[in-house]
Amino acid sequence: MLTFDRFSVHYGAGVHAIEDVSFTVQPGSICAIIGGNGAGKTTLMRAVSGTLGFHGGRVHSGEVRLNDTRIDRLSAHRIVQHGLALVPEGRHVFSELTITENLEAGAASVRSSKLRQERLQQAFEMFEVLGRRRDQRASLLSGGEQQMLAIARGMMSGPEILLLDEPSLGIAPRVVQHIGHTIQRINEGGTTVVLVEQNAAMALGIADQGLVIERGAISMQGPAAELRESDEIHRMYLGGSAVEEADSADTAQPTLERWQA
Ligand SMILES: Nc1ncnc2c1ncn2[C@@H]1O[C@H](COP(=O)(O)OP(=O)(O)OP(=O)(O)O)[C@@H](O)[C@H]1O
Ligand SMILES: [Mg+2]
Repeated sequence: MLTFDRFSVHYGAGVHAIEDVSFTVQPGSICAIIGGNGAGKTTLMRAVSGTLGFHGGRVHSGEVRLNDTRIDRLSAHRIVQHGLALVPEGRHVFSELTITENLEAGAASVRSSKLRQERLQQAFEMFEVLGRRRDQRASLLSGGEQQMLAIARGMMSGPEILLLDEPSLGIAPRVVQHIGHTIQRINEGGTTVVLVEQNAAMALGIADQGLVIERGAISMQGPAAELRESDEIHRMYLGGSAVEEADSADTAQPTLERWQA
């Protein structure tokens, strides 16, 4: 169980990026974190992956716990050992390395070479395109394929919890569907998922619970099914109103129906 308890993060002296945030991610669930630009989503992901310090950020107050361990002051390396893996915003695959080498980099914390090999095979089975092109440089992959590689690399450490920071960013809608479906399969395999997204339709379509973050604070949280029905979410994140959409069946506005892969 991942718990944020009255958690606040500052950058430098003046930027209060996260203010007094509390929530819990239930084991085995998908938790969607929705919010616009600058809301603080990436800051939360930095805080739980031990990378805040690289960006000049620091925990101001509160804490983050994974099961009974406080993790917000651990190094990135130790956090991976505790079972958390981050797929960062912007993917950051190693473009000059091959697909296999990228995946191996994700398994650096895994001591057993047999286990590393097994995970590699699992990645190639789950992401067929990566298997076919395993010896090619990552730079030759499309944006969507690079996102798949970043997700597969995140899974190589065998995480209990996978954190994904805007996997749909800059990706074509058809490929976003594929990514959503992949996240569902990963979750069905037993991995808890924290999914940060501006794409509320995709994220709330597959999530069990959701929360909305605005200017560093939680403005809404609850079961994803309830948030999908929220007029405020329709207005703010889908450019329409749930009521208006329900009233006019032939509207071309996007809807927040259960998202299908
Ligand atoms: N390294 C940094 N130094 C100073 N301020 C920062 C730094 N990184 C982020 N911030 C500020 O912290 C706030 C939260 O930023 P963050 O990147 O967490 O938002 P976000 O929700 O991920 O946004 P986006 O959707 O654009 O990725 C913003 O006001 C941002 O300008
Ligand atoms: Mg971000």
